[in-house]
Amino acid sequence: MVTAACLAKLGHDVQCFDSDPEVIELLKVGKVRFHEPGLADLVSQMVTEGRLQTAESIEEAVGSSELSFICVSTPPKANGAADLSYIEAATRAIAQSMDGYHIIVEKSTVPAKTGERVRETLRMHAKPSVEFDVVSFPEFSREGHAIDDFLHPDRLVLGVESERAEQAMRTLVQGIDAPIVVTDMASAELIKHASNCFLALKISYANALANVCETIGANVEEVAEGMGLDNRIGRDFLNAGVGYGGSCFPKDMAAFIAMADELGYDFKLLKAAREVNDERPRRLIEKLRQALWVLSGKTVAVLGLAFKPDTDDVREAPALALIELLLEEGASVRAYDPVATSTAQKLLGERVVYCEDSYQAASGADALVVVTEWDEFRHLDLDRIKGLLAVPVIIDGRNIFDRTTLTEAGFIYHGMGK
Ligand code: UDX
Repeated sequence: MVTAACLAKLGHDVQCFDSDPEVIELLKVGKVRFHEPGLADLVSQMVTEGRLQTAESIEEAVGSSELSFICVSTPPKANGAADLSYIEAATRAIAQSMDGYHIIVEKSTVPAKTGERVRETLRMHAKPSVEFDVVSFPEFSREGHAIDDFLHPDRLVLGVESERAEQAMRTLVQGIDAPIVVTDMASAELIKHASNCFLALKISYANALANVCETIGANVEEVAEGMGLDNRIGRDFLNAGVGYGGSCFPKDMAAFIAMADELGYDFKLLKAAREVNDERPRRLIEKLRQALWVLSGKTVAVLGLAFKPDTDDVREAPALALIELLLEEGASVRAYDPVATSTAQKLLGERVVYCEDSYQAASGADALVVVTEWDEFRHLDLDRIKGLLAVPVIIDGRNIFDRTTLTEAGFIYHGMGK
């Protein structure tokens, strides 16, 4: 949706097709069914201006276009490797619909060498006279900032096999002011996985440092600040907390590890980073135990269900893992999230009490836990929270509060690594 809407915004005519008819029906009236800041407005505007249209079939979409973007999902299989069956199915359908020269753009996140298989599949299923090129154009947008990241990226990566495809892609992205890195297809595919896994690694490094800080009485935020001022390191993605989640990092780590395994390389570095991340919710539980001793029979207010702020996405959200652990311990959970309650409810069911706001969640709870750093949590009326909690315990899973302020206000406060 973001790719389609942003390409339309750049002035292109975009035809969308999805195998889920509901997506298409909503799009016809300019709507999207998930929360991404600014997207609903942009989609609605582009639909009204006639630049974002829907197609009834892949044939119709491909037949009226010069380029086709494959944006299907690549979910993890049981062994962590990316399931490429949707890519294969989309490729076949495109092949059968191509009439003249066509460019097929791989936008989904895929393991290296997928583009090669896409090319072979196209050759197998397209009319012999039809010419085509495959391009890898990896996606680096973050949820919650997707439109801005698409239109103002740090860089564009084009994995191309011909001058013709490169020129077409350069024309397509005209209007985006960013350095363009042109590579072969496999390198472009690798850049995506390598970048995401590096960021995940950086977060796990900060979380491992947090563990060390706790044992020696140092503050991981100050350590991150001091490290981050070195331009070679950078401050971004050094925030320790309850760990990374989402639809990308956990899946991409698993896929990259699985790909390396298949190629005979044991990527121990990434495996260790994943282990550090998996331990984070349990680490938070230990802090709760430190404050409350026994968790069975206690009530915990959980603030934040989304895997990060500004999204309703709860895929691989640390909050879900944490809530499962709390329930296993015999604790009751009162949860609140500004937008992700209904998506979380689909996974957690009625085992949790869903609240209208932070104050309702805190009401009568034995502790309050911050799992997602939504801005509104930073501005809570702490006196009111203290009055509502049965015991004034705050476990700050994202380090959004200042320890001194909270302890002076009478809270028993635990952050992550400080
Ligand atoms: C990520 C990449 O950033 C993006 O380039 C790629 O296209 C898709 O995957 P996204 O999953 O939307 O984007 O979220 P991101 O902002 O990267 O955060 C991922 C997770 O890491 C979140 O759970 C976040 O809370 C966590 N995180 C991030 C930390 O725990 N600490 C940090 O310092 C930064």
